[in-house]
Amino acid sequence: MQNKQAGARLIRIPTVNDARGSLVHIESQGVLPFDVKRTYFTHGMPEDAVRGGHAHRQCEEFLIAASGSFRVTLTDSAGEKTFILDDPSTGLYVPTMTWRVLDGYTKGAVCLVLSSLSYDERDYYRDFDPFEADLANAENPIR
Ligand code: TYD
Repeated sequence: MQNKQAGARLIRIPTVNDARGSLVHIESQGVLPFDVKRTYFTHGMPEDAVRGGHAHRQCEEFLIAASGSFRVTLTDSAGEKTFILDDPSTGLYVPTMTWRVLDGYTKGAVCLVLSSLSYDERDYYRDFDPFEADLANAENPIR
């Protein structure tokens, strides 16, 4: 059965460029496959920082390198795939039941995250083994 979320994928974000710079605008309707409930961002990461190391049961997320670049490695029922985020006009959609590890931050990198749900620690898999055990029932292969 096709998963309604479909797989993790890069999504191009509408951007208005002019002589003053670029304006990137994101609306849930038409751009993202979910309604945004929460926004957070990480910054000030040392270049050897490793973040993530978790998956969500219900929460969907959209990751954007608002500044600089970093690497995102995803693991889902289809296996592992690595994305480099280095363009503020292209974000990475991360469905539920997808393990993510973020590293390779450049100096000054900012990771902006849009989430479908409010923060709830109970939504997290923080350990890989129980996540992997539940993956057999997930249907969101990376494309
Ligand atoms: P953590 O999940 O370790 O961040 P990352 O995914 O970047 O590795 O979260 C760090 C801390 O921040 C942890 O104590 C949970 C807290 N937190 C919130 O309070 N609200 C939020 O929306 C998020 C994402 C995290």
